[in-house]
Amino acid sequence: MKLWGGRFSKNTDSEVNDFNSSIRFDMRMYRQDIMGSIAHATMLGKCNIIPKADSDLIVKTLKEILEDIENGKIEFMVDAEDIHMNIETILTSRIGDAGKRLHTGRSRNDQVALDIRMYIKDEISEIIAMLVSLEKSLLNIAKQNLGTIMPGYTHLQKAQPITLAHHTMAYFEMFKRDIGRLQDAYSRTNVMPLGSGALAATTYPLDREFVAKELGFDSVTLNSLDGVSDRDFVIELASALSIIIMHLSRYSEELILWNTNEFQFIEMDDSCSTGSSIMPQKKNPDVAELIRGKTGRVYGDLMSILTTMKGIPLAYNKDMQEDKECIFDAIDTIKLCIPVFEKMIVTMKVNPERMYSGAGGGFTNATDAADYLVKKGMPFRQAHEVIGKMVAYALDNGKALSEFTIEEFKSCSDIIEDDIYEAISLETCVNERNIIGGPAAQAVQKAIDAGYVFIENI
Ligand code: ARG
Repeated sequence: MKLWGGRFSKNTDSEVNDFNSSIRFDMRMYRQDIMGSIAHATMLGKCNIIPKADSDLIVKTLKEILEDIENGKIEFMVDAEDIHMNIETILTSRIGDAGKRLHTGRSRNDQVALDIRMYIKDEISEIIAMLVSLEKSLLNIAKQNLGTIMPGYTHLQKAQPITLAHHTMAYFEMFKRDIGRLQDAYSRTNVMPLGSGALAATTYPLDREFVAKELGFDSVTLNSLDGVSDRDFVIELASALSIIIMHLSRYSEELILWNTNEFQFIEMDDSCSTGSSIMPQKKNPDVAELIRGKTGRVYGDLMSILTTMKGIPLAYNKDMQEDKECIFDAIDTIKLCIPVFEKMIVTMKVNPERMYSGAGGGFTNATDAADYLVKKGMPFRQAHEVIGKMVAYALDNGKALSEFTIEEFKSCSDIIEDDIYEAISLETCVNERNIIGGPAAQAVQKAIDAGYVFIENI
């Protein structure tokens, strides 16, 4: 018989039973469910709501059940619907009436809200740890490439020279914000909903603050309707995860491009590439492509939860059971992607010569040539015009600016002198950009130092 079977005269249709049952996916919250029940039972005993002896027996037995689950000794029953009722059923089968006292002053509605919050808190901490590890690898790559000059792009057209360190630190900043978003989401997940009951709290004098403290929550929810029907924290996490994978995907896209025969800026390691079943010469960047591909899936999870929640009247409705598969999938996907992405960038080989020669063509120093004229007293708009003409001449004659003779320079503007060559070298272009946030080695070094401070303070 169902735990709620009292008012029913018929058994649940077996198809409806399967349809309703969530055990196949919510079983992963068994730890959180048991820890939550242990805290609840302890509090019931402490507040004399149930006999102390029963509370002790419940706690002891729940610990045994936890061990049995972890040792693979327990098979959950589809019939018991979800993880909450599965565990309560097992408990009651072991200790009878004492077990039946556990659910005093509690509803599955506040119980599931508690479990999913606890589960998400644990997962956020793990994902932050993965991002921290990735950030350390990025700092390492940046440190080693402060002088690795490469082209920076706008519109995927060569724009100005930067360094690989500067480029790498751009992604460091993105993942830094991701960590901040996760910490932020954590703080709003860290509120304890038990005591909200089904929707209107309870008549028992529960000590909610005690339960919150036992379970490591910062505070308790302040409205019972909201306590059971809020899934903002699930959506916030799905949103933060979507942004993380968007960043991973952009990075992957760049690496796929850099790994092409046309670019050859990097070479993916054999250990992170795959071959073709027909073309013997192929070495494909599958890891990067798969991460880019999985982005759609995480966005889908976010859209799905948002859409599920949009029409739900207060308070709990069964629709909300649909939040779990989505958020579990988003979490699993991110936890697969971050470490493998890190492995891929740590093992890839950088080709500094190709990056350097790539930085040279395409007039990436044209802005600096204009700035040279400005420093000699010419207004910027006029300098822009002069250099524009110079570029047109260079294109006609198949030359780079650095290949001009001094006579050619002077025919464009007589204020140009021999120091022009130094002024428009790629090294000067990069290292003159020595302001906060700039690509000069000194400026990037400061960003790296700040990066280490950030990592150490998480
Ligand atoms: N399995 C349910 C869920 O995931 C638990 C809460 C069910 N409550 C209820 N009154 N049916 O949301």
